[in-house]
Amino acid sequence: MSKTTVLTGITTTGTPHLGNYVGAIRPAIAASRDQSMTPYFFLADFHALIKCHEPERVAASRREIAATWLALGLDTDNAVFYRQSDIPEIPELTWLLTCVAAKGLMNRAHAYKAAVQENLDAGDKDPDAGINMGLYSYPILMAADILMFNANRVPVGRDQIQHIEMARDIGQRFNHIFGEDFFALPEAVVDDRVAVLNGLDGRKMSKSYNNTIPLFESEKKFRKLINKIKTNSLEPGEPKDTEGCTLFQIYSAFASEEEAQAMKQRYAEGIAWGEMKKELFEYLNEQLRGPREEYQRLLDDPGHIEAVLQQGAEKARSYATPFLERLKQAAGLGNFV
Ligand code: TRP
Repeated sequence: MSKTTVLTGITTTGTPHLGNYVGAIRPAIAASRDQSMTPYFFLADFHALIKCHEPERVAASRREIAATWLALGLDTDNAVFYRQSDIPEIPELTWLLTCVAAKGLMNRAHAYKAAVQENLDAGDKDPDAGINMGLYSYPILMAADILMFNANRVPVGRDQIQHIEMARDIGQRFNHIFGEDFFALPEAVVDDRVAVLNGLDGRKMSKSYNNTIPLFESEKKFRKLINKIKTNSLEPGEPKDTEGCTLFQIYSAFASEEEAQAMKQRYAEGIAWGEMKKELFEYLNEQLRGPREEYQRLLDDPGHIEAVLQQGAEKARSYATPFLERLKQAAGLGNFV
């Protein structure tokens, strides 16, 4: 039986935070051990250049994300772990796909439309002001990421569903034009059971809101940040609601069902916010201490991370290189003899 290919990419512009961990990293690490699948996980560093022109930021983010995934126990024997920019077949495939993708399809991409809307709202005469071609063609690069490895399932957040649909559309078009089912058509996998964490201010934890708690902050800073999480002004001893409480929400994303129930009881009994913050810090710190130490060790040994990623790229290319040859041939770009 052929294995299911699962593939997902992480744009390398930020530092992994608790929300990333619970929503994407933790489920992906678990999936990396599933022998019935071939998981492909990669650093989407070409995508990073679309919105970030700070080389230091992109470079640091790549190291931090790679070290995070490895520190948390990514199974790199079963999973293929690589940098997008180490696979030259991906930009080549992007061009083949660009030449079959409908421009009108790109006009409808949410990210592009949102950028145009922002310009219009700001009263800009040029609706495309400040928008680079990378942003415009973003869905085609992403389609190449996915179609390059014939991924069947693509775990993503809700905001990415449209991109997967576009990848299907573009793949289908290529298949149709060049007369063969080269590409499997990918399905988005959105897991509603994984928690979406709130951040320091109670809004969704996100880099764009500047309200994140980094996953591997030093213990001291980590404690400080947890103490900064916004609560209401109920006094110690007053019963408290777990619903809508960021502290409880984060706690329960890490705790067992029983532990969460027990904590709920303590809320009803009026646990003080200061005490809850202390509990939360200690509980999370206990789980994160080991991986945090490993993360630091890895960051201090970039040669090791590099070697792991090079191996991943080699595995990825052993699939991509011959496949791209076939695709080029089908489009009339094969060798003469
Ligand atoms: N665009 C995705 C995001 O911002 C990252 C990404 C790039 C990706 N290429 C991908 C995700 C391919 C899944 C498959 O989250």
